[in-house]
Amino acid sequence: MLTLGVLASGRGSNFQSIIDSIESGFIRAKISVLITDNPNAYAIERAGKHNIEPIVLKPKDFPDKNAYYFRIAEELEKRGVGLVILAGFMRVVGKALINKYRNRIMNIHPALLPSFPGLHGQKQAVDYGTQISGCTVHFVDEGMDTGPIIIQAAVPAYHDDTEETLSERILKQEHRIFPYAIKLYSEGRLSVDGRKVIIKGSREDSVLINPPYSNPSH
Ligand code: GRF
Repeated sequence: MLTLGVLASGRGSNFQSIIDSIESGFIRAKISVLITDNPNAYAIERAGKHNIEPIVLKPKDFPDKNAYYFRIAEELEKRGVGLVILAGFMRVVGKALINKYRNRIMNIHPALLPSFPGLHGQKQAVDYGTQISGCTVHFVDEGMDTGPIIIQAAVPAYHDDTEETLSERILKQEHRIFPYAIKLYSEGRLSVDGRKVIIKGSREDSVLINPPYSNPSH
């Protein structure tokens, strides 16, 4: 069975949606560890409630970025992690981890990439006045939100949206497509060809404006 390692920095609602999707049987996988850079992350409490080991690793306790990500990679490998999930991990991941887990690290970003990468994707969309927004699950490469796109979901953006109202609409879709991307991976249905991710099976799986699947936990 696929073993997941989750990295999160904050409230962990995406982490929770993955836990729920495993517990409901939607994804066949287990989560062996939560690694966080933030000792106050609510994600730690979520881990505790579901018997997932939490580890706090703060970058400032390491000599440099390389040492930090080397250690994270070690902790993941030690537990047999096959897929690394960035669920609101608010850092650009270092090469020491990417090289060991090439095309085996997934991130969720709250915008339709390549628009609005980096921090506050939702606010960037509101300020720009875009009328369609959404979220993207992608594999992680060395860039900032630049890796191959796995699944995107779109939502409308209205002229009177605030960062909060748009974020809430996008978050609902995050909680659907992130577990779904992990499910596809766990079933061996994802392959990467250059910038493109190929999903074996139904073509509709890659267009998720109205997702054609059902996730019983959401
Ligand atoms: C989400 O909006 C996600 O897209 C972004 O960070 C936020 C994390 O939220 N990468 P949560 O911690 O999963 O609730």
